Amino acid sequence: MPGNSFGNIFKITTWGESHGKALGVIVDGCPAGLKISEKDIQLELDRRRPGQSKYTTQRKEADKVEILSGIFNGTTTGTPISMLIPNADAISKSYENFKDIYRPGHADLSYDEKYGIRDHRGGGRSSNRETVGRVAAGAIAKKILKTMKIKTFGFVSQIGNLKCEKIDANYIEKNPLRIPDKSKLKEMGDLIDSVRKQGDSIGGIIEVRSVGVPAGLGSPVFEKFDARLASAIMGIGGVRGFEIGLGFSVASMKGSQVNDIMVGKSKGKVKFDTNNAGGILGGITNGNDIILRFALKPTSSISQIQKSINSKGKVKNLQVKGRHDPCLCPRAVPIAEAMVNLVLLDCILENKLSTLKKIV
Ligand SMILES: Cc1cc2nc3c(=O)[nH]c(=O)nc-3n(C[C@H](O)[C@H](O)[C@H](O)COP(=O)(O)O)c2cc1C
Repeated sequence: MPGNSFGNIFKITTWGESHGKALGVIVDGCPAGLKISEKDIQLELDRRRPGQSKYTTQRKEADKVEILSGIFNGTTTGTPISMLIPNADAISKSYENFKDIYRPGHADLSYDEKYGIRDHRGGGRSSNRETVGRVAAGAIAKKILKTMKIKTFGFVSQIGNLKCEKIDANYIEKNPLRIPDKSKLKEMGDLIDSVRKQGDSIGGIIEVRSVGVPAGLGSPVFEKFDARLASAIMGIGGVRGFEIGLGFSVASMKGSQVNDIMVGKSKGKVKFDTNNAGGILGGITNGNDIILRFALKPTSSISQIQKSINSKGKVKNLQVKGRHDPCLCPRAVPIAEAMVNLVLLDCILENKLSTLKKIV
């Protein structure tokens, strides 16, 4: 099964399944000399952890990270960093009833079609549990980016048809939905509660912004910065749409409304009057903040009775019990931030090779 590695220089490989013994990640290409501890990694894993509130899956995982290699006396050595996160609360018997039935909206059918074998327990490798490795690796990238004053933050901007109207960055981590608009908390929380009571789920939109990003990241033509972000975000389970800057709304606009006008230079940085491009021109960052958005589908595991088929094609009724996120959005925020941080750092390290001036 290839496709488990991400990045060119700061390269991560995640491993493990939802109901296996443990999951983890190997980070290769991390520069030596970074002071980092398990505490730094744990901070990010705790933001992604299940069971954080009534709006997330009630699976109880401490997600305690253990660093196995690559860090000596609290400092990275330049050798591969290996991190392990045990699975402590997997209840595989919840999945026995549909061992041979393909759950609608899940990867069960497509994994079986491709490999002829699948780990039915909790979705195996297709489970969102896999992303603990990405978040652990992203925590290292985040710490390096902090030394460069680059900061990425995400928030839930929409749940169902309810949209946030204000962005209060200080409020995001203070509420269980990770929304930036306090006035919407009750309404959005009630919506999630009501769909859950109906044995259903609900989708939403997440926005991620990166500030302090230098101009010049990303490479023409197949490694454009936006293409790499799209790959990073679309690789998260449940993502159904991705946009940069004004995104899909440009389809109904005029050039005069969309073009960002350059208005001068300050401290060597070009100033724009707007940021409709989301910080990227020609696949290369322009010094403006990166702004991206993505749509998450409603959770596929719903407790309503649904029809599906088994591996022999026979129609069956199934009810997906077990513990599930009624809305994927709140927990997807730290995962998306991690993926964006991985892209940013990888592109920054690649830039060290972009001109002879930076090599010698
Ligand atoms: C943070 C997060 C949590 C998720 N939790 C669940 C869950 O509890 N139940 C579920 O059915 N899917 C969950 N998913 C989505 C599945 O992983 C995903 O829908 C499935 O693997 C099929 O992949 P696809 O939707 O990309 O086609 C979650 C995704 C994310 C990002």
